[in-house]
This record gives sequence, C-alpha cells and structure tokens, in this order.
Amino acid sequence: MNIRKIQIQIEEYNDIKSLKEIDISLLTHAQQALTSSYAPYSEFYVGAAVLLENGEVIKGSNQENAAYPSGLCAERVALFHAQSVYPDLKVKAIAITAAAEHFITRSPVTPCGACRQVMAETESRQNDKIRIIMKGQEGIIQAVNGIENLLPFVFQEENLKKSKRS
Ligand code: THU
Repeated sequence: MNIRKIQIQIEEYNDIKSLKEIDISLLTHAQQALTSSYAPYSEFYVGAAVLLENGEVIKGSNQENAAYPSGLCAERVALFHAQSVYPDLKVKAIAITAAAEHFITRSPVTPCGACRQVMAETESRQNDKIRIIMKGQEGIIQAVNGIENLLPFVFQEENLKKSKRS
C-alpha cells in the first residue's frame, strides 16, 4: 500500500489592497454581477466575472428556479456565456463573490463541485490554467492558480479514453 499526498496552494490576503489591480478589478465586476442574481429561494446572491485573454470581462450571477435543480450557479452562467460567445478565447481568471439577504458573508465563496468540474474542463480545453479569486463581503480573500488546487484528482477526458481489456 502506498499513500500519495497531493499538495494544493491557496493565496490568502487580509486586505483587498494587497491584490494586484487586475484581480481587484475582476472582483469589482463580480460584485456588480451580484445585482442581477435571481435567487428568491436561497436569498444567497452570487456574482462571477470571467476575464478573457482579450481583456473582455463576462459577468454572471446565479439564476434559480421553482424547480430547484433547474437553476444554475453564477460561475457556470459566466463561463458558459463566455464560451458560447467566444469559443476560441482563453479564460484567464474568474472572480467570485456573494452576499446573503439575512447574514453577512464573512468567508470567501468557494465554487461548488459542479462549477469546479466545469472550470477543469475549460482548463483542459484551452490547455491553460485559470486563476480563481474568491471573496465574501468581509474577511480574507483567497486565490488559486489552477483548478487542481480546488479539485485535485479530477475526472477528465483522459478517463474516457478506451484502453484494451487485458
Ligand atoms: N451558488 C453559486 O452561484 N455559486 C456557488 O459557488 C455556490 C452556490 C448559488 C446556487 C444557489 O442559487 C445559491 O447559490 C445557494 O446555493
């Protein structure tokens, strides 16, 4: 038996001013995206902003539905929109933030498993990593370079390749 340890790396910032201007700007876009959130059921409003390689920013917010699973997270709204309009442009970064109706979000909003899986697919499709910047209304800001830091041991295209049975 062998135990394999996988290391992940997360940057943590106590103050938004410690981040680079490009990250701060993307977080500001994510904050703006919040305002279009449609979340009457959870009353949890999430905003995401995707930075493309041409400098364009695509925003997304969570969109809920009375049939709950039909809704979609802010991250996937933004990523799918970006990829459907600009299929050939790489995604450089995504910023995510959230606010709730009845409490203050004091820790960064980390993407759900399904959104991580979509980010992984985007990285493999473009053969380049995505910077992911996460913030609550208050508290520390976290950032990672590459989805492997949020989704180690990912299921990916490779797993679908046929290999001969022995
Ligand atoms: N949500 C997001 O939009 N992104 C996340 O990373 C976590 C959860 C949304 C889904 C749902 O509309 C609400 O937040 C509560 O789960």
